[in-house]
Amino acid sequence: MKRLNKNAVLLWVLLALPLIAFAQIPTVTLNNGVKMPILGFGTLDLRESTGVQSVAKAISIGYRLFDTATVYGNEEAVGEGIKKSGIDRSELFITTKLWVDDTGYEKTKKAFETSLNKLGLEYIDLYLIHRPRGDLRGAWKAMEELYEAGKIRAIGVSNFEPHQLEELLSYAKVKPAVNQIETHPFFQQYREREVLNGLNIQMEAWSPLAGGRNDIFNNPTLNAIGKKYNKSAAQVSLRWLIQRGVVTIPRTDNAEYMKENIDIFDFELDEADMLKITGLDLNTTQFPEWE
Ligand SMILES: NC(=O)c1ccc[n+]([C@@H]2O[C@H](COP(=O)([O-])OP(=O)(O)OC[C@H]3O[C@@H](n4cnc5c(N)ncnc54)[C@H](OP(=O)(O)O)[C@@H]3O)[C@@H](O)[C@H]2O)c1
Repeated sequence: MKRLNKNAVLLWVLLALPLIAFAQIPTVTLNNGVKMPILGFGTLDLRESTGVQSVAKAISIGYRLFDTATVYGNEEAVGEGIKKSGIDRSELFITTKLWVDDTGYEKTKKAFETSLNKLGLEYIDLYLIHRPRGDLRGAWKAMEELYEAGKIRAIGVSNFEPHQLEELLSYAKVKPAVNQIETHPFFQQYREREVLNGLNIQMEAWSPLAGGRNDIFNNPTLNAIGKKYNKSAAQVSLRWLIQRGVVTIPRTDNAEYMKENIDIFDFELDEADMLKITGLDLNTTQFPEWE
């Protein structure tokens, strides 16, 4: 009897582990009241079987926010990974993005349906205009309608500079909930952050690890700070973003890195650490080829 109880407890703990991990990821509340996990999982370059396996693995480790895009060519893989995980859809927060070729009212409606079908979902949590190009007015109107119809829980933009946001706000009926922009220790985006905070638009960081560029994982400052807390340069970079209230989505297909990147809620950088990281800002993109 005693042995049975012990086994039952063990089984309960094993079943509850993913829930416990998720419970550790704090959320931010978007300007329309929707809650979004502050840490998620990027899927750029994770295609086909790598995409499927990575998404399913990340869910089992505790990730709940997933970031994909039409142009990544992996919406089907992300959808399959979700299915494979067996998780209830309502526990996830899924972002996808409208590519520049699909802007305009009619094309946006069609592109959204295609994304939805590829992902195998009934609704999207966050739909973003990927880049400020094309017929944005038509695209935004279509997104507003899809939002009002309950097909999207929040709509937003990506790679918008303050003047481009201002223009969109001049005709938007629904204010964007998020602007997803390149942000990491080498490109800290202080001005954008101030503008977005002022507008009550959530900042989300893409390439929070600078895509591994500029030798970020061997950066002496990040590693010296990490040593104090027994954390890596990657963990320090992600923690720094989260302490600034920025949502972020590191990407990896390596299960050990997935665990490392989610293990950032048990320490806090102090003011001196934050200041040292401020000193790393080069105030420029690490992806000039995408400009
Ligand atoms: N809106 C946009 O225009 C836009 C643009 C770019 C990206 N994004 C989104 O942002 C997500 C993240 O950006 P990203 O994919 O460019 O790069 P990232 O997350 O900054 O960096 C990914 C690189 O870091 C490595 N890595 C991850 N965790 C690590 C760890 N703990 N220790 C050591 N190395 C680690 C990965 O290695 P492995 O390859 O070995 O796993 C990969 O090479 C994308 O996946 C995508 O969803 C959006």
